[in-house]
Amino acid sequence: MAFKLDSVVPWGRNMEEYKLMFRLEDNDMSKKIAGFGDGPACFNYEMTERNGSVISFDLIYQFSKEDIEKRIEEVRTTVMQQMRENMDNYVWKNIKSLEELESTRMSAMRKFLSDYEKGKAEGRYVFHELLDKLPYGADYFDIGLSSHFLLMYTSLGYDFHIASMTEMLRVCKEIRIFPIVDLDANKTDLIKNVIDYFQRDYNVEIVKTEYEFQKGDNKLLIIKNRDVI
Ligand SMILES: C[S@@+](CC[C@H](N)C(=O)[O-])C[C@H]1O[C@@H](n2cnc3c(N)ncnc32)[C@H](O)[C@@H]1O
Repeated sequence: MAFKLDSVVPWGRNMEEYKLMFRLEDNDMSKKIAGFGDGPACFNYEMTERNGSVISFDLIYQFSKEDIEKRIEEVRTTVMQQMRENMDNYVWKNIKSLEELESTRMSAMRKFLSDYEKGKAEGRYVFHELLDKLPYGADYFDIGLSSHFLLMYTSLGYDFHIASMTEMLRVCKEIRIFPIVDLDANKTDLIKNVIDYFQRDYNVEIVKTEYEFQKGDNKLLIIKNRDVI
């Protein structure tokens, strides 16, 4: 069945948030980075502005700018309504209010939209669906990132996560995944089992982040190929 844009809730974060979620240091910013499930985040745009090297992969990049823009406007009110109803589940430290949240997210997504067609032409936004194979050789990227996608959508299942992350680890020297809880901020057996699986053959680390928006979402998973120092 063809993938439909109305099954996605596009909602994007900015570079400052990516830096905090993934503990990206200054020396990481000049590395070759892949963003999996970057959606309408403006990390790619802001990094490109700073001469960084980021390729973003997402299912929604098969759609036009107009279609993505329309979908963002469709979900905006519902997402903000849900946030209003669940305010107590969030830490209002970096982002201080619902109004600031909406303007931060909308600003990030507008930056993404302004860059989308140029970035697509430059090969920076690539339509790709995990768990499909990526058109790159081994260790092409230094770091692969996944924010609010892998491990979070537990309904995608164990096999999906193992195959997707194995493919990411083929083309990236290391991958970083944030957060490591499900959509309801719970640790799940699936997440534990996926981590156990990679611990057998890779260096696996769970590190605390300064970034915590949903309460308890403050841990980052880093998986490195053993031959990476
Ligand atoms: C909640 S958004 C996160 C966007 C961005 N990473 C951020 O944190 O701002 C999740 C993204 O994962 C993408 N996605 C879902 N399933 C996917 C798949 N199988 N392959 C690639 N992208 C997928 C969605 O299209 C969506 O853009």
